[in-house]
Amino acid sequence: MSKLTKISWVALVLWVFTIAGIGLVIFKGGAEPGEDGRIELAVNKDEKRFILGEMRQMLETVQEIVVALETDNIKAVGEAVEGKGVADMMRNTPKILITKVPPEFMGLGRAMHANFDAIGSAAADGANTKKILAMLGDQLAQCTACHSTYKLPEQF
Ligand code: HEC
Repeated sequence: MSKLTKISWVALVLWVFTIAGIGLVIFKGGAEPGEDGRIELAVNKDEKRFILGEMRQMLETVQEIVVALETDNIKAVGEAVEGKGVADMMRNTPKILITKVPPEFMGLGRAMHANFDAIGSAAADGANTKKILAMLGDQLAQCTACHSTYKLPEQF
């Protein structure tokens, strides 16, 4: 093998590893199993804050729905989920964050926002309290499924 051929081979191998590495980060997301068995998301401090801020909004929404259902106020249910659906929330997600988390995580997030859209449509169609409560139960299953699978880094 000539010196040039050798260098070409080394360059090719390095190139393949680089592309494979980039592909792994994009398609798998940076995440590792943590000490408590949950997958730790490889996000930075600002992204962690963004996620937690969104989470607190989600809990507020659930709280507002429960308070509304107490008095069968279906109109207030519709108001509670306003702006919490896929179109509004997913648009606000920083693009870089999407490349950093596993696609399964994004899928659970999307399903959660889609559930708020569905609750909004049901409320607009005049669904009763029992129906909304059942939908909220399904929604809470999305919350707990994600919480039992993923965690944020603890160091910041
Ligand atoms: C796509 C995944 C995902 C979904 C769906 C999800 N969460 Fe979370 N949530 C997280 C992660 C990750 C954390 C951080 C947990 C940790 O590090 O231990 C979190 C944390 C939280 C926190 C703590 C906020 C803080 O400031 O410390 C609240 C409250 C919360 N979630 C509420 C909810 C509610 C309510 C729902 C459902 C309507 C929900 N989450 C759905 C991933 C999710």
